[in-house]
Amino acid sequence: MFEASNVDKGAHVNWKLPDPKFYEALGFEGMKDLMYRFYDEIYDSGIAHFFPQDEEEFDKVKEKNSLFFIEICGGPKVYKEAAQGQDLNEYMIRIHDNFSITEKARFEWLGCMETALRQTDMSQALKDDFWEYLEKFSKLTVNTFEDGSVYYAAYEPGDIVP
Ligand code: HEM
Repeated sequence: MFEASNVDKGAHVNWKLPDPKFYEALGFEGMKDLMYRFYDEIYDSGIAHFFPQDEEEFDKVKEKNSLFFIEICGGPKVYKEAAQGQDLNEYMIRIHDNFSITEKARFEWLGCMETALRQTDMSQALKDDFWEYLEKFSKLTVNTFEDGSVYYAAYEPGDIVP
């Protein structure tokens, strides 16, 4: 049902923002539920070590992540982390530069989201649309490759499909 293709190192990724209908269908609390379920999956996954082991710190990540997704999905502008005037998408790509993210880690991350989405009661078409965003955008967070090389994807506003 949900598919993911490989990252092609250095290649431009054309991606689209989620359809605001996804947020409209879930609402603020529904989005939070989805993201908290996603992080419960992360906690039990092979990429748990990327995230804070301290419960309070992990809770802060869950909260910030929920607010980001609410905003990027067309909800209210509640994510306050990006510096004033900074592009949110660029900020989000660059935050991942602080971690060595491999393709394998990306697939695990997407797998956690897939599980959380499967438990969500909404139309498959909207899930597919959200997945399309996740599958593409997550490619820009991968910076560490099998041969040990690193490559940090550039943020190109022109790569966003209207
Ligand atoms: C669609 C792709 C992705 C999006 C939209 C996304 C979004 C986010 C957001 C909103 C945060 C919280 C930033 C903050 O306010 O501090 C975050 C942090 C993080 N993400 Fe992602 N992420 C994506 C893909 C990935 C992938 C594939 C990994 C693989 C491991 C990953 C690992 C992390 C880590 C380690 C953190 C930092 C947690 C901390 O603060 O300690 N992300 N991401």
